[in-house]
Amino acid sequence: MTDLTPIALPRRPRVLALANQKGGVGKTTTAINLGTALAAIGEKVLIVDLDPQGNASTGLGIDRRSRKSSTYDVLCGDVGLGQAMQETAVPGLFLAPSTLDLLGVELEIAGSKDRAHRLKNAIDELVYDQRCSDLTYVLIDCPPSLSLITINAMTASDAVLVPLQCEFFALEGLSQLLKTVEQVRNGLNPRLIIQGVVLTMYDPRNNLSGQVMADVREFLGDKVYETVIPRNVRVSEAPSYGKPALLYDLRCSGSQAYLKLASEVIKRERVLRAAA
Ligand SMILES: Nc1ncnc2c1ncn2[C@@H]1O[C@H](COP(=O)(O)OP(=O)(O)OP(=O)(O)O)[C@@H](O)[C@H]1O
Ligand SMILES: [Mg+2]
Repeated sequence: MTDLTPIALPRRPRVLALANQKGGVGKTTTAINLGTALAAIGEKVLIVDLDPQGNASTGLGIDRRSRKSSTYDVLCGDVGLGQAMQETAVPGLFLAPSTLDLLGVELEIAGSKDRAHRLKNAIDELVYDQRCSDLTYVLIDCPPSLSLITINAMTASDAVLVPLQCEFFALEGLSQLLKTVEQVRNGLNPRLIIQGVVLTMYDPRNNLSGQVMADVREFLGDKVYETVIPRNVRVSEAPSYGKPALLYDLRCSGSQAYLKLASEVIKRERVLRAAA
Protein backbone atom coordinates (compact mmCIF):
# COMPACT_ATOMS: atom_id res chain seq x y z
CA MET A 1 0.00 0.00 0.00
CA THR A 2 1.27 3.46 -0.84
CA ASP A 3 1.84 5.79 2.10
CA LEU A 4 0.05 9.02 1.28
CA THR A 5 1.13 10.89 4.43
CA PRO A 6 2.11 14.35 3.20
CA ILE A 7 5.77 15.17 3.67
CA ALA A 8 6.20 18.31 5.76
CA LEU A 9 8.30 20.67 3.69
CA PRO A 10 10.83 22.67 5.69
CA ARG A 11 9.59 26.23 6.20
CA ARG A 12 11.80 29.22 5.52
CA PRO A 13 12.14 31.36 8.64
CA ARG A 14 10.61 34.83 8.56
CA VAL A 15 13.40 37.22 7.67
CA LEU A 16 13.39 40.82 8.94
CA ALA A 17 16.05 43.42 8.10
CA LEU A 18 16.69 46.13 10.68
CA ALA A 19 17.63 48.99 8.44
CA ASN A 20 18.16 52.73 8.56
CA GLN A 21 21.13 54.39 6.90
CA LYS A 22 21.25 56.86 9.77
CA GLY A 23 23.84 55.91 12.34
CA GLY A 24 23.12 55.34 16.01
CA VAL A 25 19.32 55.08 15.82
CA GLY A 26 19.02 51.74 17.63
CA LYS A 27 19.28 49.11 14.87
CA THR A 28 21.70 46.90 16.77
CA THR A 29 20.05 47.42 20.16
CA THR A 30 16.73 46.45 18.57
CA ALA A 31 18.21 43.41 16.80
CA ILE A 32 19.71 42.12 20.07
CA ASN A 33 16.76 42.82 22.33
CA LEU A 34 13.94 42.01 19.93
CA GLY A 35 15.82 38.79 19.12
CA THR A 36 16.14 37.97 22.81
CA ALA A 37 12.49 38.80 23.48
CA LEU A 38 11.35 36.60 20.56
CA ALA A 39 13.51 33.74 21.85
CA ALA A 40 12.08 34.24 25.35
CA ILE A 41 8.58 33.67 24.03
CA GLY A 42 9.53 30.46 22.28
CA GLU A 43 10.78 31.47 18.83
CA LYS A 44 14.09 30.16 17.50
CA VAL A 45 15.99 33.18 16.26
CA LEU A 46 19.17 33.86 14.30
CA ILE A 47 20.69 37.33 14.33
CA VAL A 48 22.84 37.98 11.27
CA ASP A 49 25.43 40.66 12.01
CA LEU A 50 25.90 42.40 8.70
CA ASP A 51 27.77 45.41 10.06
CA PRO A 52 31.59 45.44 9.95
CA GLN A 53 31.51 47.26 13.31
CA GLY A 54 30.34 43.95 14.79
CA ASN A 55 28.32 45.60 17.56
CA ALA A 56 25.64 42.91 17.59
CA SER A 57 28.34 40.26 17.98
CA THR A 58 30.09 42.12 20.82
CA GLY A 59 26.79 43.00 22.45
CA LEU A 60 25.89 39.31 22.54
CA GLY A 61 29.18 38.46 24.22
CA ILE A 62 30.88 36.83 21.20
CA ASP A 63 34.41 38.28 21.29
CA ARG A 64 36.53 38.69 18.18
CA ARG A 65 38.70 35.63 18.84
CA SER A 66 35.74 33.29 18.89
CA ARG A 67 34.32 34.54 15.57
CA LYS A 68 35.64 31.61 13.53
CA SER A 69 33.38 31.91 10.51
CA SER A 70 31.68 35.20 9.83
CA THR A 71 29.12 36.84 7.59
CA TYR A 72 32.05 37.90 5.40
CA ASP A 73 32.77 34.21 4.69
CA VAL A 74 29.07 33.65 4.05
CA LEU A 75 28.77 36.52 1.53
CA CYS A 76 31.94 35.34 -0.18
CA GLY A 77 30.33 31.91 -0.53
CA ASP A 78 33.04 30.14 1.47
CA VAL A 79 30.78 28.81 4.25
CA GLY A 80 27.06 28.31 4.77
CA LEU A 81 25.13 30.48 7.21
CA GLY A 82 24.58 27.40 9.39
CA GLN A 83 28.35 26.96 9.74
CA ALA A 84 28.78 30.58 10.80
CA MET A 85 25.95 30.33 13.33
CA GLN A 86 26.98 30.28 17.00
CA GLU A 87 25.04 29.82 20.21
CA THR A 88 24.58 32.79 22.53
CA ALA A 89 23.89 32.89 26.27
CA VAL A 90 20.17 33.12 25.46
CA PRO A 91 18.51 29.76 24.80
CA GLY A 92 16.95 29.79 21.33
CA LEU A 93 19.00 32.79 20.16
CA PHE A 94 21.86 32.29 17.69
CA LEU A 95 24.27 34.66 16.00
CA ALA A 96 26.19 34.75 12.73
CA PRO A 97 28.97 37.17 13.74
CA SER A 98 30.72 39.76 11.65
CA THR A 99 34.35 40.76 11.46
CA LEU A 100 36.15 43.78 10.03
CA ASP A 101 36.76 41.74 6.84
CA LEU A 102 33.22 42.68 5.92
CA LEU A 103 34.50 46.17 5.09
CA GLY A 104 36.06 44.74 1.95
CA VAL A 105 33.29 42.39 0.87
CA GLU A 106 31.68 44.76 -1.61
CA LEU A 107 34.84 44.93 -3.70
CA GLU A 108 35.10 41.15 -3.65
CA ILE A 109 31.58 40.42 -4.82
CA ALA A 110 30.81 43.53 -6.90
CA GLY A 111 31.77 41.80 -10.14
CA SER A 112 29.61 38.72 -9.68
CA LYS A 113 26.15 38.35 -11.18
CA ASP A 114 24.52 37.19 -7.94
CA ARG A 115 26.12 39.95 -5.84
CA ALA A 116 22.79 41.16 -4.40
CA HIS A 117 21.52 37.62 -3.75
CA ARG A 118 24.43 36.25 -1.73
CA LEU A 119 22.63 36.45 1.64
CA LYS A 120 19.28 35.34 0.20
CA ASN A 121 20.89 32.22 -1.22
CA ALA A 122 22.57 31.51 2.13
CA ILE A 123 19.25 31.88 4.00
CA ASP A 124 17.42 29.69 1.46
CA GLU A 125 19.98 26.95 2.17
CA LEU A 126 19.29 27.06 5.94
CA VAL A 127 16.25 24.81 5.70
CA TYR A 128 18.47 21.95 4.50
CA ASP A 129 20.79 22.27 7.51
CA GLN A 130 19.53 20.13 10.39
CA ARG A 131 20.76 22.54 13.06
CA CYS A 132 18.82 25.43 11.57
CA SER A 133 15.80 23.89 9.88
CA ASP A 134 13.53 24.88 12.79
CA LEU A 135 14.56 28.54 12.92
CA THR A 136 11.47 30.74 12.93
CA TYR A 137 13.03 34.21 12.68
CA VAL A 138 16.15 35.68 11.13
CA LEU A 139 16.92 39.29 12.12
CA ILE A 140 19.51 41.08 10.04
CA ASP A 141 21.43 43.93 11.67
CA CYS A 142 22.34 46.27 8.81
CA PRO A 143 25.18 48.81 8.71
CA PRO A 144 24.34 52.54 8.61
CA SER A 145 24.38 52.80 4.82
CA LEU A 146 22.35 51.82 1.77
CA SER A 147 25.28 49.90 0.35
CA LEU A 148 25.40 46.51 -1.36
CA ILE A 149 25.45 44.91 2.11
CA THR A 150 22.08 46.49 2.98
CA ILE A 151 20.76 45.62 -0.48
CA ASN A 152 21.74 41.99 0.23
CA ALA A 153 19.77 42.19 3.49
CA MET A 154 16.68 43.63 1.76
CA THR A 155 16.87 41.10 -1.06
CA ALA A 156 16.95 38.28 1.50
CA SER A 157 14.13 39.63 3.67
CA ASP A 158 10.37 39.34 3.87
CA ALA A 159 10.14 42.71 5.56
CA VAL A 160 12.06 45.71 6.79
CA LEU A 161 11.82 46.97 10.35
CA VAL A 162 12.95 50.57 10.68
CA PRO A 163 14.22 51.91 14.02
CA LEU A 164 13.73 55.67 14.19
CA GLN A 165 15.27 57.73 16.96
CA CYS A 166 13.01 60.29 18.68
CA GLU A 167 15.13 63.30 17.79
CA PHE A 168 14.77 66.41 15.67
CA PHE A 169 16.11 64.93 12.42
CA ALA A 170 14.24 61.63 12.82
CA LEU A 171 12.50 61.76 9.46
CA GLU A 172 15.52 63.06 7.58
CA GLY A 173 16.75 60.39 5.20
CA LEU A 174 13.62 58.30 5.62
CA SER A 175 12.41 59.05 2.09
CA GLN A 176 15.74 57.76 0.74
CA LEU A 177 15.30 54.57 2.75
CA LEU A 178 11.72 54.12 1.51
CA LYS A 179 12.91 54.73 -2.06
CA THR A 180 15.55 52.03 -1.68
CA VAL A 181 12.92 49.57 -0.36
CA GLU A 182 10.76 50.42 -3.39
CA GLN A 183 13.68 49.88 -5.78
CA VAL A 184 14.48 46.50 -4.22
CA ARG A 185 10.80 45.54 -4.44
CA ASN A 186 10.65 46.53 -8.11
CA GLY A 187 13.71 44.57 -9.07
CA LEU A 188 15.37 42.18 -6.68
CA ASN A 189 12.64 41.15 -4.23
CA PRO A 190 8.95 41.73 -5.07
CA ARG A 191 7.72 40.37 -1.73
CA LEU A 192 9.54 42.97 0.39
CA ILE A 193 7.35 45.10 2.66
CA ILE A 194 7.86 47.44 5.58
CA GLN A 195 6.88 45.50 8.72
CA GLY A 196 6.91 48.63 10.81
CA VAL A 197 8.72 51.60 12.22
CA VAL A 198 9.80 51.53 15.84
CA LEU A 199 10.47 54.74 17.74
CA THR A 200 13.54 54.42 19.92
CA MET A 201 15.21 56.36 22.74
CA TYR A 202 12.01 58.16 23.65
CA ASP A 203 12.48 60.53 26.57
CA PRO A 204 9.20 61.60 28.21
CA ARG A 205 10.95 64.50 30.02
CA ASN A 206 11.95 65.99 26.71
CA ASN A 207 9.17 67.92 24.92
CA LEU A 208 10.90 67.44 21.60
CA SER A 209 10.72 63.64 21.95
CA GLY A 210 6.92 63.86 22.28
CA GLN A 211 6.65 66.24 19.33
CA VAL A 212 8.77 63.96 17.14
CA MET A 213 6.62 60.99 18.13
CA ALA A 214 3.45 62.87 17.14
CA ASP A 215 4.94 64.00 13.79
CA VAL A 216 6.16 60.52 12.90
CA ARG A 217 2.78 58.98 13.73
CA GLU A 218 1.03 61.60 11.63
CA PHE A 219 3.37 61.00 8.69
CA LEU A 220 3.56 57.20 8.82
CA GLY A 221 0.22 56.26 10.41
CA ASP A 222 -0.23 52.68 11.52
CA LYS A 223 3.14 51.67 10.10
CA VAL A 224 4.47 52.91 13.45
CA TYR A 225 4.34 50.31 16.23
CA GLU A 226 2.34 51.22 19.30
CA THR A 227 5.28 50.19 21.42
CA VAL A 228 7.83 52.95 21.90
CA ILE A 229 11.29 52.10 23.24
CA PRO A 230 12.22 54.52 26.03
CA ARG A 231 15.68 55.94 26.52
CA ASN A 232 16.94 53.79 29.35
CA VAL A 233 20.42 53.68 30.82
CA ARG A 234 20.21 49.92 31.53
CA VAL A 235 19.73 49.31 27.79
CA SER A 236 22.88 51.27 26.97
CA GLU A 237 24.93 49.58 29.73
CA ALA A 238 24.05 46.02 28.80
CA PRO A 239 26.30 45.63 25.70
CA SER A 240 29.43 46.43 27.70
CA TYR A 241 28.64 43.28 29.72
CA GLY A 242 28.12 41.31 26.51
CA LYS A 243 24.49 40.81 27.44
CA PRO A 244 21.10 41.75 25.99
CA ALA A 245 19.24 44.20 28.24
CA LEU A 246 16.69 41.47 28.90
CA LEU A 247 19.38 39.36 30.60
CA TYR A 248 21.10 42.30 32.25
CA ASP A 249 17.92 43.73 33.80
CA LEU A 250 14.67 42.11 32.79
CA ARG A 251 12.59 44.54 34.80
CA CYS A 252 13.95 47.80 33.38
CA SER A 253 11.63 49.85 31.18
CA GLY A 254 13.72 49.14 28.05
CA SER A 255 13.53 45.35 28.46
CA GLN A 256 9.80 45.49 29.10
CA ALA A 257 9.32 47.62 25.97
CA TYR A 258 11.24 45.11 23.83
CA LEU A 259 9.04 42.29 25.16
CA LYS A 260 5.98 44.30 24.13
CA LEU A 261 7.51 45.01 20.73
CA ALA A 262 8.13 41.28 20.20
CA SER A 263 4.47 40.44 20.73
CA GLU A 264 3.45 43.28 18.43
CA VAL A 265 5.84 42.04 15.72
CA ILE A 266 4.43 38.51 16.03
CA LYS A 267 0.88 39.82 15.86
CA ARG A 268 1.69 41.74 12.65
CA GLU A 269 3.38 38.67 11.21
CA ARG A 270 0.21 36.63 11.78
CA VAL A 271 -1.88 39.23 9.97
CA LEU A 272 0.64 39.44 7.10
CA ARG A 273 0.83 35.66 6.75
CA ALA A 274 -2.94 35.33 6.72
CA ALA A 275 -3.15 37.97 3.99
CA ALA A 276 -0.42 36.31 1.86
N1 LIG B 1 16.64 52.63 24.38
C1 LIG B 1 17.86 53.09 24.56
N2 LIG B 1 18.19 53.75 25.71
C2 LIG B 1 19.45 54.23 25.88
N3 LIG B 1 20.45 54.09 25.02
C3 LIG B 1 20.18 53.43 23.87
C4 LIG B 1 18.89 52.91 23.58
N4 LIG B 1 18.92 52.32 22.37
C5 LIG B 1 20.19 52.47 21.92
N5 LIG B 1 20.95 53.13 22.81
C6 LIG B 1 22.35 53.50 22.67
O1 LIG B 1 22.49 54.35 21.55
C7 LIG B 1 23.68 54.03 20.83
C8 LIG B 1 23.31 53.65 19.39
O2 LIG B 1 22.52 52.47 19.42
P1 LIG B 1 22.76 51.29 18.37
O3 LIG B 1 24.19 50.88 18.34
O4 LIG B 1 21.75 50.24 18.65
O5 LIG B 1 22.40 52.05 17.03
P2 LIG B 1 22.69 51.59 15.52
O6 LIG B 1 21.62 52.18 14.68
O7 LIG B 1 22.88 50.13 15.45
O8 LIG B 1 24.09 52.32 15.26
P3 LIG B 1 25.01 52.13 13.95
O9 LIG B 1 24.32 52.87 12.87
O10 LIG B 1 26.32 52.71 14.35
O11 LIG B 1 25.08 50.65 13.67
C9 LIG B 1 24.35 52.90 21.58
O12 LIG B 1 25.32 53.44 22.45
C10 LIG B 1 23.22 52.28 22.38
O13 LIG B 1 23.66 51.67 23.60
MG1 LIG C 1 24.50 49.03 14.64
